[in-house]
Amino acid sequence: MISKKTIAIKFLLLLLLCVFASGDAEVRCIEREREALLSFKNGLIDDDSSLSSWRRDECCEWHGVECSNTTGHVITLQCDNCGLQGEIGSSLLELHHLIDLDLSMNDFGGIQIPGFIGSMKQLQHLFLSRSNFSGSIPPQLGNLTNLRSLDLSYNPLSLISPFIFGFVFGSLETMDLSYNQFTGLMPDLRAFPSLINLDLSGNNFTGSIPVSIGQLSKLQVLDLSRNSLEGLVSESHFSKLHKLKTLDLSFNSLILDIAPDWSPPFQLNYIYLAGCSLGSFPKWIQTQMNLSHLDLRGANITDEAPRWLWNMPSSLHRLYLSDNQISGTVPNLSSTSIKLIDLSYNQFSGHIPPFPINASIILLSGNMLSGAISSICKTRKASLNYLDLSNNQLEGEVPNCWEKMPKLYTLNLANNSFSGEIPLSLGDIRDLTILRMHGNHFSGELPNSLRFCQRLRFIDVEGNKIPTWIGFVEINCMEVFLPRYAILLIFKFWICP
Ligand SMILES: *[C@@H]1O[C@H](CO)[C@@H](O)[C@H](O)[C@H]1NC(C)=O
Ligand SMILES: *[C@@H]1O[C@H](CO)[C@@H](O)[C@H](O)[C@H]1NC(C)=O
Ligand SMILES: *[C@@H]1O[C@H](CO)[C@@H](O)[C@H](O)[C@H]1NC(C)=O
Ligand SMILES: *[C@@H]1O[C@H](CO)[C@@H](O)[C@H](O)[C@H]1NC(C)=O
Ligand SMILES: *[C@@H]1O[C@H](CO)[C@@H](O)[C@H](O)[C@H]1NC(C)=O
Ligand SMILES: *[C@@H]1O[C@H](CO)[C@@H](O)[C@H](O)[C@H]1NC(C)=O
Ligand SMILES: *[C@@H]1O[C@H](CO)[C@@H](O)[C@H](O)[C@H]1NC(C)=O
Ligand SMILES: *[C@@H]1O[C@H](CO)[C@@H](O)[C@H](O)[C@H]1NC(C)=O
Ligand SMILES: *[C@@H]1O[C@H](CO)[C@@H](O)[C@H](O)[C@H]1NC(C)=O
Repeated sequence: MISKKTIAIKFLLLLLLCVFASGDAEVRCIEREREALLSFKNGLIDDDSSLSSWRRDECCEWHGVECSNTTGHVITLQCDNCGLQGEIGSSLLELHHLIDLDLSMNDFGGIQIPGFIGSMKQLQHLFLSRSNFSGSIPPQLGNLTNLRSLDLSYNPLSLISPFIFGFVFGSLETMDLSYNQFTGLMPDLRAFPSLINLDLSGNNFTGSIPVSIGQLSKLQVLDLSRNSLEGLVSESHFSKLHKLKTLDLSFNSLILDIAPDWSPPFQLNYIYLAGCSLGSFPKWIQTQMNLSHLDLRGANITDEAPRWLWNMPSSLHRLYLSDNQISGTVPNLSSTSIKLIDLSYNQFSGHIPPFPINASIILLSGNMLSGAISSICKTRKASLNYLDLSNNQLEGEVPNCWEKMPKLYTLNLANNSFSGEIPLSLGDIRDLTILRMHGNHFSGELPNSLRFCQRLRFIDVEGNKIPTWIGFVEINCMEVFLPRYAILLIFKFWICP
């Protein structure tokens, strides 16, 4: 039974809700600000009609506009990915209370960032990413002393070293200048003590990394990848980086010069050091108990894989070690949580290991792995998408258990010494798209069951003892590389446009 009291309370609540809701609706935008927005719109070319709602009286409900609940002033203008072109009018200066300005992902035709933005002193977040601004950053932006986030990424901005580093943005927490065309020495960042995220990747900064970067004690993300930085990186570059979670120094010419017994101040989630010169396996990595991605590709490591590497915490999901000279055997990985493992082009030897149970990508190409691969049948590998065992010394028959890997789309067994017939169960991999088996000693015919692989687009069995296989007609769009003597017979199967 519902008592009258309950009904009364419900009624009261409803009433309160109405009062609050209508309270919201009463917020009227301020006429001067409405006019400023309309004048801003007039300067723009809005081919996608993204701003079509910008005509009604209530400007606080216009697309991308947000007003303060208490004062009615426009506090947010967010027109990212609106297809806008044209001119950014200085009428925006009338928006004296604007905190967030986001004009990312539009096309302003290669103009300079308007200097007047530097007069919007109250701005806390300025996002002008991917908007086709070029030239230099106007020095007036240095007046934005309340700025907390600045994202100018993916523009063709350029200059000797961006002026911005001469500014004092005491409160800046996020600075994203990635993928511009900045050149010159990497700047000193001590003027930005509040930085949490720093992304300077994809520019052409040169010289060495200033040691002062180690003083940015609030830093969580440091991405300097894809520049022309060089010189030594030492412990002092990290001295106060207690909060760092992501470190990306890849694709520069940096040499990591760190003592083996170093005990880092941080617990990282992501380490990307591809293309750095490490010499040997960095021992400090074993102190990182929360690591999710470890990328040491092409890092000049000439060393045996340390035992601890294979006992990394269960947080480790991606391990990239390709293009080094890492030796040793690979142990049983079946109980690790690795989803992607890339050991290609090293000097690993011994048998192929039992794979990580949940792996989707396994790349072991270009090592000295030997023996048979029948062990891959022992367990189901339901999540495996990509298996590359090419360019090793593997031999024996390829086991007939591919129904255990139903999600495989690329299988590369090329350039080994496999023999025997190509297994029938390959036809059970319904998603199989690329099958490379060239450079082995396979014999017999290509199994008819491959007809069931509806997605198969590429088969390469050249360099085996496999004769022509007529059944190809069934597969309607693929490239086929058969032994040379067969190609003459089947050239008409190149039916892809
Ligand atoms: C204004 O009020 C709405 C509804 O209560 C709320 O969702 C929104 O976050 C508030 N905006 C600001 C800037 O406080
Ligand atoms: C940037 O603007 C220039 C000049 O209008 C134009 O030629 C170029 O295509 C634009 N670039 C992009 C990526 O939109
Ligand atoms: C803004 O910055 C410019 C260039 O740095 C400077 O000349 C000007 O005095 C600054 N204006 C204010 C109000 O601080
Ligand atoms: C980067 O800067 C260096 C030195 O100024 C120059 O030699 C090099 O060509 C630049 N690279 C790119 C990709 O702009
Ligand atoms: C690779 O590391 C060795 C030391 O292990 C060093 O002598 C060599 O110069 C490094 N190569 C490059 C390209 O940095
Ligand atoms: C590891 O990460 C988890 C969740 O992100 C966090 O709660 C934990 O404190 C981290 N551990 C260390 C040692 O940083
Ligand atoms: C690999 O480890 C798993 C789990 O620890 C175990 O069940 C399996 O027998 C091992 N395989 C080999 C070949 O040692
Ligand atoms: C593999 O995935 C299953 C299902 O997501 C999960 O329960 C299991 O813990 C994972 N095993 C390992 C070793 O990560
Ligand atoms: C197999 O070896 C040949 C000759 O060395 C090479 O051209 C080809 O790219 C290799 N195949 C694969 C899949 O790596």
